[in-house]
Amino acid sequence: MLPRMKTMNPSALFVPRKAARRLPVLCGLLLALAPLPAQQEEVRRDVPYVPTPSDVVETMLKLGEVKKGDILYDLGCGDGRIVVMAAQKFGARGTGVDIDPERIKEAEENARQAGVSDRVHFILKNLFEADFHDATVVTLYLLPDVNLKLRPKLLKDLKVGVRIVSHQFDMGEWKPDKEIKADWRTLYLWTVTEKAKAEFGDK
Ligand SMILES: C[S@@+](CC[C@H](N)C(=O)[O-])C[C@H]1O[C@@H](n2cnc3c(N)ncnc32)[C@H](O)[C@@H]1O
Repeated sequence: MLPRMKTMNPSALFVPRKAARRLPVLCGLLLALAPLPAQQEEVRRDVPYVPTPSDVVETMLKLGEVKKGDILYDLGCGDGRIVVMAAQKFGARGTGVDIDPERIKEAEENARQAGVSDRVHFILKNLFEADFHDATVVTLYLLPDVNLKLRPKLLKDLKVGVRIVSHQFDMGEWKPDKEIKADWRTLYLWTVTEKAKAEFGDK
C-alpha cells in the first residue's frame, strides 16, 4: 500500500480577486515607505556647512579656556576641526554632533589622521535632540535664530559654570561675558549661571 502523500491545500495558492486588484497599490505604498539609500536622503540642515578657519578655531578654544580635563561639544561640528584641535592642542576630550553623514565621515577621518580618535567621537544626530549634559565647554557656529532656538536647551541641560563659545552669532538678550574680534569675525563667550538659567531657561 502506498503511503499517504502530504498534498498542498489548493486554496493556499488562491489570492482573492479583490486583494489581487489592490496588490499594485500596496506594492507602491511599500516602495514609498522603504528607506532610501543614505546618499539619496535629504539632509535637513538648519545651517549650511561653512568651516571655521583654523586660526579662528584656535582663538575660540583660547577664549573658552579649553584645557586638559574639559569635555567639549561642538554642536554642528562639520568636519570636526574644533573637536580635533581641542584634543590635539589643548588636551581635552570632545564630541562632535552633525546631521550630515558626509561631515561625520570626514570628522572621523580627520580625527584618525590627527591621532586623537581615542579622545573624540562624532555623532550623527540633530543637535536639538543631542545629549550634551556632561559638557564643560560647548562651541557653536550656527545662525542667530538657531542660537535662540537652542538657548533654552543649553540652559536646561548644561551645568552651572559651563562655557559656551559662539563664532559670529550672539544669544539675543542673554548678553555674553566676553566679546572679541578675530579679524572681521566676532567671537562670544558665556558662562552658564543660575541667574541665566532662571532668566532664559524657558524662552
Ligand atoms: C557653519 S557649519 C560649522 C561647522 C563647524 N562647527 C565649524 O565651525 O567649522 C554648521 C554645521 O552644522 C550642521 N548642522 C546644520 N543643522 C544641524 C542640525 N539640526 N543638527 C546637527 N547639525 C546641523 C551642518 O551640517 C554644518 O556642518
